[in-house]
Amino acid sequence: MYSKAVLEKAREEGEVLTFDDVTLKEGYAEVMPKDVDVTTRFTRNIGLKIPMVSAAMDTVTEAPMAIELAKLGGIGVIHKNLTIEEQAEHVARVKHNLHGFVDRPTYVKEDDRVESILAKGYKYRSFPVINGEGKLVGIVTGNDFDFCTDNSVPVSQIMSRDLFTMPVGTDINAAYEIMTKRKKKILPIMNGNGTMAGMFVYSDVKRVKTRSNETYTVDSKNRLRVAAAVGTGDKALERIQALVEQDVDAIVIDTAHADSKPVKDTLIEAKRVYHSLEFVVGNVSSRESAERVLSWGADAIKIGQGPGSICTTRIVAGIGRPQISAVYDCYKAIGDEIPLCADGGLRFPGDIVKAIAAGAHYVMMGKMLAGTDEAPGDIIFVEGRQFKTYRGMGSLEAMQNEGSKERYHETEEVKDRMVPEGVSGRVPYKGKLATVMIQYVGGLRKGMGYVGAATIEQLREKGDFDKMTNAGISESHPHDVEITSGSPNYSKEK
Ligand code: XMP
Repeated sequence: MYSKAVLEKAREEGEVLTFDDVTLKEGYAEVMPKDVDVTTRFTRNIGLKIPMVSAAMDTVTEAPMAIELAKLGGIGVIHKNLTIEEQAEHVARVKHNLHGFVDRPTYVKEDDRVESILAKGYKYRSFPVINGEGKLVGIVTGNDFDFCTDNSVPVSQIMSRDLFTMPVGTDINAAYEIMTKRKKKILPIMNGNGTMAGMFVYSDVKRVKTRSNETYTVDSKNRLRVAAAVGTGDKALERIQALVEQDVDAIVIDTAHADSKPVKDTLIEAKRVYHSLEFVVGNVSSRESAERVLSWGADAIKIGQGPGSICTTRIVAGIGRPQISAVYDCYKAIGDEIPLCADGGLRFPGDIVKAIAAGAHYVMMGKMLAGTDEAPGDIIFVEGRQFKTYRGMGSLEAMQNEGSKERYHETEEVKDRMVPEGVSGRVPYKGKLATVMIQYVGGLRKGMGYVGAATIEQLREKGDFDKMTNAGISESHPHDVEITSGSPNYSKEK
């Protein structure tokens, strides 16, 4: 219906284009930016409220990034430069951040000392208390801890024994009503045999019920969603098992070259074992590779070979494809059959709009998120200015970890013999993720308004490009003025 003539012609002529090579054409609009619908699909069956995902990188996504991004409507992919236990722990932190219904509560035992519970540094302070036989005998809450004058006593001395429980089958609406009426912070839900099936936690039930979570990406139990990266082979299958035990929502089989036998074998075996789990598979950059990965059963495909800000793959290995052409090629092959992720190379909010208009369902960002508070690592000061470290997963530093070595098929243990495909660097500190995302989502909405696309699907279909010249690129940036005051969404440093 709509043609992307510039991209199609380039494809026919074997010319490959990237973000600065193209600019979006305006279109007739009946929809205003504030009214466009930016929801999309992450995998076949998982939806997102904004088309933005954080990169599976050790300077970008651990639990804090995944929690905040899911609250803003996207999803984070926990990186794999962690032990299996550590990665599963990050997934658990996201899944436990917001509970509609907690089916695996953290219990304390009646003879646990108050000081030993406090020393564990739990984020929450309300717990069911069980006896030696595992039977529920009380509830202890923040108030009980606050008014405790001797922390050496067992929890049985400060807990409330006045148990109010409900049977399995109690839904969130009934729970909210009962907890509000009876002023209960925890509502244990009991199986017929007297064991506890789980519990509702009032603060979360209230958030869910009062819809203050309406921007959140949540699962059917109203828990935040999270994905996690794995490599290939038996180690990946072991990792997946641990992640599934923590209720991970999707797995990203994350390699630099997905069109390969190890990825194929891992995907097929993992899908055989975990029928209902969904897999994002990457990375590819061509039509044929995307088709093959789809045929092995991928539930989404990640596109990008060498566009990333910290990547040196194209320089070191001479391969890769400029990202707008890579995305368009895969879009031509896959259409809407499964979601497509444009991974890497985004520098400005406008690049997000271009990536989706070229055919992606969502974008994955590393550099654009690495400077935020939620990214791992401390702020560093250089000549009075604030930065955060950002490094490629294929950099020498990151490849000291197994996860990175596997991603880049690195088998050497000795640093001097490794062949890195990325660099380490730093990016300007950006503050809170939520503030930064206002600009990214705002830019996307504006772009959709200009194109006249009411939905992400329409942007994918209608988005059409003109080709740029160097003069056009210079004209696009502020020019012939000295910038005197900063803008929240534009800086020379990109
Ligand atoms: P941006 O441009 O958002 O890119 O910083 C993030 C994406 O880059 C990929 N990545 C790498 N690619 N060498 C590479 O060739 C590396 O060391 C490297 N580290 C990350 C990855 O796909 C990420 O999402």
